[in-house]
Amino acid sequence: MLIDNHGRPINYLRLAVTDRCNLRCFYCMPHEGIEFLPKNHLLSYEEMLRLIKLMAEMGVSKVRITGGEPFVRKGLMPFLWKISETPGIEKINLTTNGVLTAPYVNELKDLGISSINLSLDSLDRARFFEMTRRDELPNVLHTFDEILKNDIPLKINAVMMAGKNEDDIFDLVNLAKENPVSVRFIEEMPFNGEGIKPEYFLSYTRIIDKIKERHPSLKAIKNEPTSTSYNYQIDDFKGNVGVIAAFSRTFCGTCNRIRITPTGDFKTCLYDEGKMNLRDLLRAEKTDEEIKQFIQASISKRAKDGFEAEANRSSLVTESMTTIGG
Ligand code: GTP
Ligand code: 5AD
Ligand code: SF4
Repeated sequence: MLIDNHGRPINYLRLAVTDRCNLRCFYCMPHEGIEFLPKNHLLSYEEMLRLIKLMAEMGVSKVRITGGEPFVRKGLMPFLWKISETPGIEKINLTTNGVLTAPYVNELKDLGISSINLSLDSLDRARFFEMTRRDELPNVLHTFDEILKNDIPLKINAVMMAGKNEDDIFDLVNLAKENPVSVRFIEEMPFNGEGIKPEYFLSYTRIIDKIKERHPSLKAIKNEPTSTSYNYQIDDFKGNVGVIAAFSRTFCGTCNRIRITPTGDFKTCLYDEGKMNLRDLLRAEKTDEEIKQFIQASISKRAKDGFEAEANRSSLVTESMTTIGG
């Protein structure tokens, strides 16, 4: 079991397999995209598998694949199969925007994916385009259908922005009425290096108040201590709704997660500047033991509350979400 210097068990690795994305969500990427990294700066699948194996030996049992958009990277499925064969890894989860995902859903089911988190900010085609700058809603909805058809547990992630997709809340809530899904509304996080409230900020209290007004039976459900979302039940709904107060609230107290970025930066906190690089160790031909010692040493110096530090602007996160993986 991996335990950090504040007594928190670590068992959850978020692995961003690429910084590339086929959408341009305006809270995440500039219109023109970001300057993509040369391929040899990225961890190869072999390098990622070695790190997963070592971390599994140290106590990691859940791997979430993120990006960018994971399916933009070629060869993702064989890689996921290999993760599924790694001793100690009990859960593989995926966060995807669903543009390219539909054709792979049957195979994801076969390899035993535990759940999928699908980013979807609006069910209105024009609004979806406004949010993501791409006309891909039909493909995303196809992925949604395929996931449900395959009985894979599904969470919808909707980043909410005042005056943008605020009115889409009710249609998104209705997804949970008709389907056994968890629809989670996310407060936008500032990745502007200043920790300031984003321009279109919509607070989780306002989101909940809005839903409650329409659905007075809304009531809180008990959450897993490590959950990012506060979850709620509504009478006669097949699924449930939730809010991720990514800006208003700290998850630090129970944080069980570590992160690897596409270039191999090892982050023991979302708000780390990520100066510790695993790729360089791998390419310097360090032994398994040396790499494990490095991981252990980083986890023994883990920030108690990186969120607070960010809020106080004593640390500055300037990377886009897409280079960290959320
Ligand atoms: P589960 O494994 O289902 O709990 O997934 P998750 O909610 O951790 O992951 P997902 O990739 O779906 O991310 C949902 C939202 O939570 C995104 O906006 C993430 O950036 C945000 N998020 C994930 N981990 C953290 C964290 O440690 N701190 C903060 N502030 N936000 C996080
Ligand atoms: N704030 C909050 N959530 C974000 N995501 C991307 N950028 C941000 C941001 N600035 C969400 C995506 C995806 C998840 C991994 O992170 O919508 O669902
Ligand atoms: Fe792509 Fe996700 Fe960023 Fe949107 S939020 S541009 S889907 S990485």
